[in-house]
Amino acid sequence: MQTKLLTGCLAVAMMMGGASFTVAEEMPGPDGAALWNHISKVSPYTKWGQWADHEGMLAGRAPHGKFHKVFVNKKGTDSTSPPLQYGAIEVKENYSPSKELKAITVMYKVKGYNPDSGDWFWAKYSPTGKVLKSGKPKACIGCHSTRVANDFVLVHEFKK
Ligand code: HEC
Repeated sequence: MQTKLLTGCLAVAMMMGGASFTVAEEMPGPDGAALWNHISKVSPYTKWGQWADHEGMLAGRAPHGKFHKVFVNKKGTDSTSPPLQYGAIEVKENYSPSKELKAITVMYKVKGYNPDSGDWFWAKYSPTGKVLKSGKPKACIGCHSTRVANDFVLVHEFKK
């Protein structure tokens, strides 16, 4: 009986500990490995939402891969007009023509990180989370800056 009670208390304590951890969830700094840890473990992106005008797996354009899925965290989907809120993250899964996951590209809005280019931190990962590119790659910014007015976002159209 005693042990049972104790185990129960422990379980509750652990649950409460877990809950408070989620509330106090810290956002990662502009760092490829820290961001991967966040989107894969702290707040797995596969559980996030999507833009209402860009749901499910869709056909993509070069250079990202034939098919893709874009996941957006709450700070992102809560953003109703550009710019997106700080802390917003977009994760794009890039698939081959045979729908094999090839790479994961991410945009993360970090206050003061790169004010000239929308304060986005850019990262590209292998499907297992190896950092292939991160920071302020000219190529990422170059292509996406065709839509500065839409805060560098290409798959979602903010209503004017
Ligand atoms: C040659 C142009 C080009 C380059 C370079 C490029 N992108 Fe993109 N990106 C696109 C296009 C076009 C889309 C829209 C979806 C699609 O067609 O695949 C997109 C969509 C995205 C999205 C989904 C969110 C959004 O913008 O709507 C992310 C995240 C993303 N790209 C990240 C990156 C990262 C990180 C890099 C650099 C490693 C990069 N992109 C380089 C053209 C580019």
